[in-house]
Order: sequence, then structure tokens, then C-alpha cells
Amino acid sequence: MVVGGHSATYSAIFLNKRHNSAVQPNADCLRCLGMFFEGSIADLVSPVSIKGPWKIVNPEQGTMPVIPCLTCHEIHRKGSVAVRADYSDPKDIFYKSFIQFPVALFYDRYEKIHREPGDLPELKLWEEERRVHVSNDPHQKICVQCHTPNAFHQAGTSDDRTPRGVHEGLSCLSCHANHSNDPRAAELC
Ligand code: HEC
Ligand code: HEC
Ligand code: HEC
Repeated sequence: MVVGGHSATYSAIFLNKRHNSAVQPNADCLRCLGMFFEGSIADLVSPVSIKGPWKIVNPEQGTMPVIPCLTCHEIHRKGSVAVRADYSDPKDIFYKSFIQFPVALFYDRYEKIHREPGDLPELKLWEEERRVHVSNDPHQKICVQCHTPNAFHQAGTSDDRTPRGVHEGLSCLSCHANHSNDPRAAELC
């Protein structure tokens, strides 16, 4: 069985010849890949250059996951004791049954905190001059922290995969399962 790309190891990412010869390994890589690595890029991969051959400084690090569970989850996350809904108001019963504290968050390497998806910035995306309608699913704000467009926020550039065309406005998680990434596994697809 092949598992999803989020299970990538440090070696798979930081020893990738094609990527390293195009973009020199740099501190910003560690924002999305290896966010818990304690040290600088030079402590991780050597040489810090577009010319290889490269090696992982500490070989034991090589087989470790670059996107561990704690990238998107927090231990002892916030919560509260369940409260009874107002049973005379069906709406209250319905909406109160939703999880009020997010299951998935995003670990911010620079601040060393988990950000709730609601506190992450909204993705502003353009298709040339036209503003693309982006889903307001809070969980998608986690996905687009790494699956990001270029600095001009043009749709489809760089790692942006935001749906357009007939799928414009759908959330990543409408199609992709939250862990395997399998687009056939999500209930809505
Ligand atoms: C911390 C960074 C990060 C976050 C957050 C993230 N991704 Fe990814 N994603 C990656 C990387 C890196 C790869 C490619 C790994 C590789 O090279 O094989 C990837 C690959 C994928 C793929 C390609 C299929 C596969 O499994 O390889 C899909 C689909 C995907 N991500 C969807 C999502 C969705 C949906 C979310 C939000 C729930 C998300 N990603 C959040 C970094 C991230
Ligand atoms: C790229 C982000 C990401 C990573 C990494 C990740 N998760 Fe999740 N996880 C999610 C999202 C998104 C959900 C769905 C949250 C929701 O629907 O409320 C979720 C939900 C869960 C849930 C709730 C039950 C479920 O499956 O919906 C558990 C338990 C969980 N994850 C455990 C893990 C474990 C263990 C790992 C590491 C092996 C992991 N997660 C790694 C994003 C991630
Ligand atoms: C309408 C359904 C749908 C939505 C919404 C969607 N995807 Fe996909 N995505 C797919 C399908 C289908 C594939 C192709 C899978 C395959 O080839 O096995 C795919 C492939 C991918 C791939 C791997 C191929 C590539 O282009 O690199 C990535 C990464 C990805 N999606 C990320 C995302 C992210 C991030 C979002 C949200 C911003 C998203 N997707 C929203 C259906 C969707």
C-alpha cells in the first residue's frame, strides 16, 4: 500500500536533487517541512548550496517524518465541559452539537505555537485580474499554509492547488481525505 505524501521523510525532501539544484535549501523550507527541527538549515543539510551531493548532517534525522502529527494537532488542546443546549430552540441544539474547538491546527515554527485555523489568514487569490472565490472552510486555511501560490497570489502558481472552474469555492477537504489525501475517500466528492 502506498501512503500519502504527508508521510515524507527528511531525506526524501532535503536530498531531492531536482529541488535542491533549483532552489538552495534555506531557512524558509523549515516553515512547512521540518518545523520542529531544532537548529538552522546548515545543521540539517550539507552543503547549503545548489551544488551537491547533499547529505543529512545527522543521519538518524533522515528517516524521521518532516510533517509529523503535531504539525496539525496539539496535545492537550483547549476545550470546555459540555453544556446543555436550549431545548426549546431546535437551532441551538443543532449548532451547539458542532465541535466548538478545532481538531486540526497549524504549528507556527517562528512563534512556536499552534494557530487555530480561524486565526490563520484568509487566502487571497487572483486569476489574472479576477478574484478567485476561495472556500471559507477553516481547515483549508491549514492546507494553504504549505500549498501556497507565488508572491503575486496568482491561482495555479507554485504549490497552489485551489480549485477553479466548476469546482471553484470547494474546500480541499470536500474531495481529499484528511490524512491519506485520497480524493476518492472524502464523503462529499
Ligand atoms: C506542513 C505542510 C503541509 C500542510 C499543512 C499540508 N500539506 Fe499537503 N503536502 C505537503 C507536501 C510537502 C506534499 C508533497 C510530498 C511529496 O513530495 O511527496 C503534500 C502533498 C499533498 C497531496 C498530494 C497527494 C499526496 O498524498 O502526495 C495532497 C492531495 C495534499 N497534500 C493535500 C493537502 C490537504 C487537503 C491539506 C490540508 C488538510 C494539506 N495537504 C496540508 C505539505 C503540506
Ligand atoms: C496536514 C495536517 C494533518 C496532519 C499532519 C495530521 N492530521 Fe490528523 N487531522 C487533520 C485534519 C484536517 C483533520 C480533520 C479535522 C476535522 O474534520 O474536524 C484531522 C483529524 C484527526 C483526528 C480526528 C479523527 C479523524 O480522523 O477525523 C485524529 C485522531 C487525528 N487527526 C490524528 C492524527 C495523527 C495520529 C496524525 C499523525 C500520524 C495526524 N492526525 C496528522 C490534519 C492532519
Ligand atoms: C473537486 C475535488 C478536489 C478539490 C476541491 C481539491 N482537489 Fe486536489 N485533487 C483532486 C483530484 C481528483 C486529484 C488527482 C488525484 C490523482 O491523480 O490520483 C487531486 C490532486 C491533488 C494534488 C496532487 C497532484 C498535484 O497537482 O500536485 C495535490 C497536491 C492537491 N490535489 C492538493 C489540493 C489542495 C491543497 C486543495 C485545496 C486548496 C485541493 N487539492 C482541492 C481533487 C480535488
